[in-house]
Amino acid sequence: MPNFYIFMGLSMSLKICFYNDLKKKILCVRQKGKLLSFTAFYLAVTAFFFVSGTHVLANDVLLKRGQQLFKKCVHCHTYNKHHDHRIGPNLYGMFGRKAGAILDYDYSDAWKKADFIWTDKTLDTYLKAPHKMIPNNRMPFNGLSKPNDRRALITYMRTIVVP
Ligand code: HEC
Repeated sequence: MPNFYIFMGLSMSLKICFYNDLKKKILCVRQKGKLLSFTAFYLAVTAFFFVSGTHVLANDVLLKRGQQLFKKCVHCHTYNKHHDHRIGPNLYGMFGRKAGAILDYDYSDAWKKADFIWTDKTLDTYLKAPHKMIPNNRMPFNGLSKPNDRRALITYMRTIVVP
């Protein structure tokens, strides 16, 4: 695409001008009636690629960061359906489940008393300061202080611990 037009401008005399890379000069075409619709189409296509492009990019960066952060968790947690618990409980299917509710994992009393459901919001609060939200819990992790890190981790976890 850049081979054909790198720059496109509108001149006041109702012409559309392209920079033609091969001929190394600016070529102008008279459009008149079609001018407005062509320009609107061009702007719409450009806006679409800009918006969807940056969206994909942002999500990609977020997932990569989340994957990196999740490495801290897999020392102690598995996340596939039939995997055994490690030091911490298996996190498979945790979103929408009550906290501290896996039957064959021996939670500390702190978790047994917990009474909330895992959502993005509760996980965010927990990851910010695990020992503030659940005092006396045995999870030896100090938390993630940066909101963007927590968002990245939760976005990534949403793609892997979900059934
Ligand atoms: C060094 C080990 C360790 C690390 C690292 C660790 N955890 Fe834990 N985690 C635990 C333990 C142990 C428990 C249970 C604590 C208890 O019973 O008091 C737990 C509990 C949890 C629970 C509650 C699960 C439930 O069934 O309600 C969640 C959610 C959790 N951890 C998420 C994470 C995430 C996300 C990370 C990575 C940022 C992480 N943990 C890092 C050991 C760890």
